[in-house]
Amino acid sequence: MDANPLTKIAYKTLQQGKSIAGLAHKEISSRLMNLISPDNDLKNFDIDKNLLIEIQKSMDELREEDWKDYEENIYPQKLLFDEPWLRYLVQYPKVWLDMPNTWERRKNHKVNDLPKTIDKDNYPNYYLRNFHHQTDGYLSDFSASIYDLQVDILFNGSANSMRRRILKPLKEGLDNFKDRKNSSIKILDVATGSGRTLKQLRGAFQKAKIVGLDLSDSYLKEASRHISDLDGDLIELIKGNAEDLPFKDNSLQAVTCVYLFHELPRTIREKVLKEFFRVLEPGGTLVLADSIQIIDSPNFISIMEGFYKNFHEPFYCDYIKDNLDSKMEEIGFNNIRTKSFFMTKVWSAIKY
Ligand SMILES: C[S@@+](CC[C@H](N)C(=O)[O-])C[C@H]1O[C@@H](n2cnc3c(N)ncnc32)[C@H](O)[C@@H]1O
Repeated sequence: MDANPLTKIAYKTLQQGKSIAGLAHKEISSRLMNLISPDNDLKNFDIDKNLLIEIQKSMDELREEDWKDYEENIYPQKLLFDEPWLRYLVQYPKVWLDMPNTWERRKNHKVNDLPKTIDKDNYPNYYLRNFHHQTDGYLSDFSASIYDLQVDILFNGSANSMRRRILKPLKEGLDNFKDRKNSSIKILDVATGSGRTLKQLRGAFQKAKIVGLDLSDSYLKEASRHISDLDGDLIELIKGNAEDLPFKDNSLQAVTCVYLFHELPRTIREKVLKEFFRVLEPGGTLVLADSIQIIDSPNFISIMEGFYKNFHEPFYCDYIKDNLDSKMEEIGFNNIRTKSFFMTKVWSAIKY
């Protein structure tokens, strides 16, 4: 693809602008917290100069990779600029107004502060909590409405560039079915949340059948807002549990899953991987993206530690040490490949 150099400048400027905005927000909000709620002290939050240089380098590499995949036609240009600006503008004041509630939960170690109206029997225990101290956990429309913006702030504006890293290995894996009609290819995105990955999947796979599954009604409602006007067939949304997928054995050609595994206990991670294996057809591809791990990103260990020390992430400390590659291998996956991009590690594997 012959990309216009001006478009690349626009892309880089946009990414840098988002990164500055994310960093500025975090700096101002942590100073404000220290002022208003000084007992809420954040651990591992002082980033030294060398680490900052590493972070910058890693973000630059991520952007180069993002641009390169677009140039290689993995996805269309519009995905690089696809940000819900108007929505972010509307949600931003809500993020600020909600902040004292998260500080209060952190200070008082309140981690099960969920809406009274939910039926707890419908959810696994590990799910019934305020991950990262967020208001209502995953169980309210309010939480779903500000989630995207919060994640983008957390990752200095690079959340979508990191999610897009699943698309190249997925395209390569789906080559196994290149003799089939595109419309017979079914891709399931597990723990789809507010549907950001679904939008990217639709951008890269115009004709495929795409399904998003999540445990949260509110997040699925939020996802439906983002995907309803996309070109191509309507994306299907299903309420369900990753541990027990409502699909027959060998019925899907691809499964994707982004930022779920660090929020699962170790035994459930294994159960979910087995479930992915069960529903994939032989030749089918799994692409998993989640936080980086200690083994391949030792430079960022203090950031990983800061994450679980400051935010309610009870399974993260175990996750960053969990050897998922060997679990995948034991379950029967082949061609297991991994690569890390800034704060995200991507696994791809084939069921043969
Ligand atoms: C950190 S969010 C990730 C969402 C999205 N994939 C993204 O890229 O932002 C985790 C999501 O996993 C969902 N989830 C957690 N446990 C689940 C389970 N056992 N089955 C299905 N979804 C689950 C939550 O409801 C939430 O939407």
